[in-house]
Formats: sequence, structure tokens, C-alpha cells
Amino acid sequence: MNREIPIKNQTFSIKVISWFHENKRDLPWRHTKDPYAIWLSEIILQQTRVAQGLPYYYRFLEKLPTVHDFANASQEEILRLWQGLGYYSRARNMHATAKLVVKKYEGKFPDSYNELIKLKGIGPYTGAAIASFAFDEAVPVVDGNVFRVLSRVFGIETDIASSPARKEFTELAQSLIPENTPADFNQAIMEFGALQCTPQKPNCMFCPLQMECYAFQHEAQIQLPVKLKKTKVRNRYFNYFAIQKGEEFVMNKRPENDIWSGLYDFYLVETEKEGTTLDDIQDDFISELLISGEINQLVESKKHILSHQWIFATFWKIDLKNVENVTFPSSSKTDYKFFSLDEIEALPKSTLTATFFKNMVV
Ligand code: ADE
Ligand code: SF4
Repeated sequence: MNREIPIKNQTFSIKVISWFHENKRDLPWRHTKDPYAIWLSEIILQQTRVAQGLPYYYRFLEKLPTVHDFANASQEEILRLWQGLGYYSRARNMHATAKLVVKKYEGKFPDSYNELIKLKGIGPYTGAAIASFAFDEAVPVVDGNVFRVLSRVFGIETDIASSPARKEFTELAQSLIPENTPADFNQAIMEFGALQCTPQKPNCMFCPLQMECYAFQHEAQIQLPVKLKKTKVRNRYFNYFAIQKGEEFVMNKRPENDIWSGLYDFYLVETEKEGTTLDDIQDDFISELLISGEINQLVESKKHILSHQWIFATFWKIDLKNVENVTFPSSSKTDYKFFSLDEIEALPKSTLTATFFKNMVV
């Protein structure tokens, strides 16, 4: 590679670390070397911003202070603690990893990058974060912040969504990371991206890297980083029925191999197209309930946006009142049962379902 590196790597590292000492936020995971706490924080922070992630971090550590507690918890408890963060496979992978750490490593996270990345849910980013923050190994973290800062400062036009990008940026970051302070450097470059060299309106006016920064010198802040790949979005139409009998509602544990697996849902009919009227919803069971003359009421419709799917959801209420002996249709994907309001509150749910439930109850 014969890219010209416009500044001395050392200058970059020194300036970013010194900026960090002046400007860093006081965050709890920066005061610990406990790999368990660091692992928790990093996986939470892949899902959400710091402000939203903090309460999750505190709650997890309060309920499950060690990796042993995490391993011994039920999947439902983990999912319930994770509720609202989305991407629930992360929580399930964490559970598997906690169990393995307890079983295979006597409750101690492995202390090297190469071992860490063998664990479920720990990829190059999380592996480098744990290895550097907990064990001071000089491996660089490469997340969205790092892509942005490096592409701007060093004028790299490689599409950051392309497969060679990670290798290129990791090599550059590896050449920048000081052997003696890898944890500080990694925290510093991410914090610099989060607070100073932000996606929109980076604070170039007051930036210690002005002189060295390619984007600043060429007014290319908007163009960098280059990100081309557009993710395909799939539309799905979820029609939920909150079926009530007395004080109880029907819920189903969601199947594997779909979004929200292991979380609980109300009775769900997925349609190919948006079904705004009950006639559009082809479902024998629902039709029977309609014929039996129960009260049906459209409560709300909303759009729920996930990374690769847009969920168009409608919520209906059905009160079974005098209907005796309902038999729910069963399949490999469904196992409908009645739950009390308190039980439903305690079940892990998607944000979509949790919000509807909350609105319905109050
Ligand atoms: N985002 C990801 N990891 C982080 C960390 N350790 N501190 C602040 N923000 C982060
Ligand atoms: Fe980022 Fe602007 Fe600083 Fe360059 S000058 S590193 S673009 S904030």
C-alpha cells in the first residue's frame, strides 16, 4: 500500500490521547478492569447510545454482578433485562458465552484477543475492546467512530461498508496504537469520534488535529467516510390481537429463526399486505371469534423500524367474555397460553409489544 500518511502516527496518538484526558466523559466502565463488566458495557453500547445504555449497565450489574450469576440466570431473565435494546440474539449469545466462561474457563474470561474472539457474540471489535481495556493488550478497536475519524484524518476513501475496509482500517489503527497505553488510545479515539469528530457537524473549529486532518484541509468532512452499501429493508405486516379472558391475556413465546425469538407476543397474524380491516386478515381462528360475536376493537396502528425490517403493526382487542373453551391453533411456532397482567409485565417483550401493553393497561 503506498498511501501517503499525512501526519506522523505518533502525533496523532499523542494528540488524541491528550484531547481525551481533557474532554472525556466520566463513565462507569472506565473505572473497572473487570472483563465481565467491560464485556457487558461493550455489548450494550453496540446497541444503544451511552445515555440510554447506562441504566441497562447498572441494572445488569446489580442483578447479575458476576459472570457466574449471568450464566445461572434463566434466558427469560436475561431477555427481560435486555428488553428495549433490540437485536435479542445478542442477549442469547451473551448467555451462551457466560455459560462457557464458567464451564470451560472457571469463570475467568480468557485474557487474549485471539481467545476472546472464539466466544459467541465476541467479534473483532468486542474482542479488542475487552483485550485492551481489561488486559492492556495492544489491539485496536475499529468501530464506526474509528472508521470516521481515521477516514477523515488520513483521507481514506475506501467504502467502509466494503469487506476490505476493516482490514485496511485495522492495520492503520494497529500502526497508531501505543504499546504502553492501548486502553487509553482505544477509549480516546472512540470518544473523539463520539464527541468531537461527529458524523454531522464535526467540531473542526476547535480541533487539535486541524493541521493534520485531511478532511479539514480539503473540506471533505461531509464526503468522508465513504459508505456505499444500502441495506435492503423488508416490510412486514403484523396484526396483533390482545385476547382477553377475565384478567388474563393470551401470549406466545416467539419461535427461533425470526426476530424477537424467545420474547413474548400477543396473538399474531402476519399478512403479506397491510390488512387494515379484519376482512383482510385471513385467519380461521380470528374469523371464528368474530362469528361468535365478540367485541373487537382496533386499538392502534404503528410502524416499528428495525435495522432490516419495517414492521407495520396493528393492535386489536378481543374480549372473550362468555366464550368457554377456546382452543388456540397450534403449530411449531406457537404455544399460546393465558397470563395475568403481572406475569405479562415480567415477561420479556419487544419494545413494540411492551409499549402496546403499557398503553393498554393504563
Ligand atoms: N461506545 C462503545 N464503547 C464505548 C466505551 N467504552 N465508552 C464510550 N462509548 C463507547
Ligand atoms: Fe474531525 Fe474536523 Fe477534527 Fe478533522 S478537524 S479530526 S474532521 S473534527
